Amino acid sequence: MKKQISSDQGMWRRRVTFIMAATGSTIGLGNIWKFPYITGENGGGAFILLYLACVTLVGLPILIAELVAGQYTRRNPVTAMQIITRESQTNRHWSLIGVFGCLAGLIILSYYAVVAGWGLRYCLDAVSGAFQGLSSELATERFLHLLDDSQTLIYWQNVFLLSVGMVVAMGVRRGVGVAMHILMPLMLLALGALISYSWHLGDFSAGLTFMLTMDFSALSWNAVLLALGHAFFTLSLGVGAMMAYGAYMPKRTSILGVAVTVALLDVLFALLAGLAIFAVVFANDIAPTEGPGLMFVSLPLAFGAMPYGDGFAAIFFGLVVFASFGSAVSLLEPSVAWLNERHSVPRWLAVPSILAVVMVVSAAVALSFNSEHPAASLAGMSLFQWLDVVTTLWLLPIGGFLLAIYVGWFMSPVKFASAPHFMLWRFVLRFVTAPAVLVIFAVALLQRCSTT
Ligand code: TRP
Repeated sequence: MKKQISSDQGMWRRRVTFIMAATGSTIGLGNIWKFPYITGENGGGAFILLYLACVTLVGLPILIAELVAGQYTRRNPVTAMQIITRESQTNRHWSLIGVFGCLAGLIILSYYAVVAGWGLRYCLDAVSGAFQGLSSELATERFLHLLDDSQTLIYWQNVFLLSVGMVVAMGVRRGVGVAMHILMPLMLLALGALISYSWHLGDFSAGLTFMLTMDFSALSWNAVLLALGHAFFTLSLGVGAMMAYGAYMPKRTSILGVAVTVALLDVLFALLAGLAIFAVVFANDIAPTEGPGLMFVSLPLAFGAMPYGDGFAAIFFGLVVFASFGSAVSLLEPSVAWLNERHSVPRWLAVPSILAVVMVVSAAVALSFNSEHPAASLAGMSLFQWLDVVTTLWLLPIGGFLLAIYVGWFMSPVKFASAPHFMLWRFVLRFVTAPAVLVIFAVALLQRCSTT
């Protein structure tokens, strides 16, 4: 009934292509932008420890669950969940996990593109030497000025979305696969260059000390919730992105091996990028507690005061754009695959149809930054913050939790029960992952109720 994935365009050419695509998805703004600033705001090392625990005990088992579901069914997340619920003879409403996942992915994409657009703009600014000798006021003003300039924002975010769309429209093998083979080496080179720069010219030891200092008093329940949400975000979980990528993985590929590799690379990248950023920031006596502005205010300021700063700022923002690109591709792919496989809409038509909606939402996000729009915020948060909070703190963990419960308890284990490590994984899903998400959620909710 449903269209088979044709072996020519619907499979990764090699195992390493899958690893590159999956790693390209997991490494993104989450690693370079979010991770350093939430670490900065939540006390450094202690938060990192918490985040590592969430990645290992919650993220990794769910990553494996998504890959199992994808590889087993070879379908987009919506159809994959429908097939599994039917074959396992469970309530078919469980398949809504796939539908909500695709939607959440598009919501994330619509604010993700906004930040990627800032990155593009800043990359060009750095190339033209705009950060030289920037003062602290000017750095802030520059960023606020950009936020106020809706036309520029919309332009750059659309440039970004269109290029992502082009790659997805070209298909898995010729589009995404090829793009990842180009992007990954570029990202590694850029990261290497930044690490060596911050080693020679930054305050490396201050960065390292900050990341290793365990200030447990700075940890609140909110920090625990943040670490959990970030574990989902950084591993691209909860929206079926990994399920979609797993669907193009050859049947004989060992899931455990690739899942551990992808998670390790993602964590390593976050730690190294964080180290480079903190070393550069500390070398200029700037506090790391800037929040979201860390990347777009503190860093230009820091680079602007350092030798070869413009060149390395350009490399840094280039890295931001490359990393966002791989992630954005994976946010778009599940819905495109669904339209393509389930409704036989060709990719070249599916991509612009979905992107049109995403572009409208991200234009609204861009407009919500404009100080001339008084209705831009609701309950003290901008549309941008709302989309971020609703997806990262709610939709992703809930989607991941339901998947953990479903795969842990209900999905029929016929296809993978024989492998011993799968039994351990299922045990962890049932008794560690799912309860951990539930407890963290419940406590954070109670805390929030008692403080409001
Ligand atoms: N993991 C990416 C990052 O760290 C973002 C991302 C890509 C994502 N695909 C996703 C987040 C799917 C959640 C779900 O920036």
